[in-house]
Amino acid sequence: MLLMKDEDQVRAVQQLVLKNIMNNDKNKDLISMLLSDSYVAYHSLNVSRYSTQIAIALNLSEEEVNLVSIGALLHDIGKMKIPRNIIYKPSALTDDEYEIIQKHTVYGYEILRNEYGFDEEIAIIARDHHEKLNGNGYLDGKTNIDKYTQIVTVADIFSALTEQRPYHEPYKLRDATNIISAETGVNSHFLDILIQNTVH
Ligand SMILES: [Fe+2]
Ligand SMILES: [Fe+2]
Repeated sequence: MLLMKDEDQVRAVQQLVLKNIMNNDKNKDLISMLLSDSYVAYHSLNVSRYSTQIAIALNLSEEEVNLVSIGALLHDIGKMKIPRNIIYKPSALTDDEYEIIQKHTVYGYEILRNEYGFDEEIAIIARDHHEKLNGNGYLDGKTNIDKYTQIVTVADIFSALTEQRPYHEPYKLRDATNIISAETGVNSHFLDILIQNTVH
């Protein structure tokens, strides 16, 4: 796990956000659902840490930092509706399986917005976090992506590369940076901020 320059502040935001979510009894089911899959839970906490660090470094307002932190924590909640054997398949996915997995974005939006009544901006992060600025993302291939989602997308790709996966060992920070930098569809400014604020 890579540490952040503002690690204490990042953790304080995460704790506050989690406390606020848990204040609503209904949301306890949502957090239990997230924690029921230790890999998704670990990944989500990482994405939330990196996203929160970017939001702090961008000097966003406290309200915006919290919004980014919550959206990042719950960005993959839609994966809970995808069969585990597809999520954890160690070999290449078939076209059909890939199509099923891509739906975790819209499932996430529906869970957060319709089932749990989260703010639209938070649900949009779940819906659009695999969209790319060059239109090469999914689910819609849209290029008009809000800034909160762009933050989470950078943090998500960075986490995916630097975490252990069934199909790859964690990349070293420099290799992960090179891979993401070559990707034209993500916000390079937010990526620079994340790298600059990673302790290495
Ligand atoms: Fe995702
Ligand atoms: Fe993710």
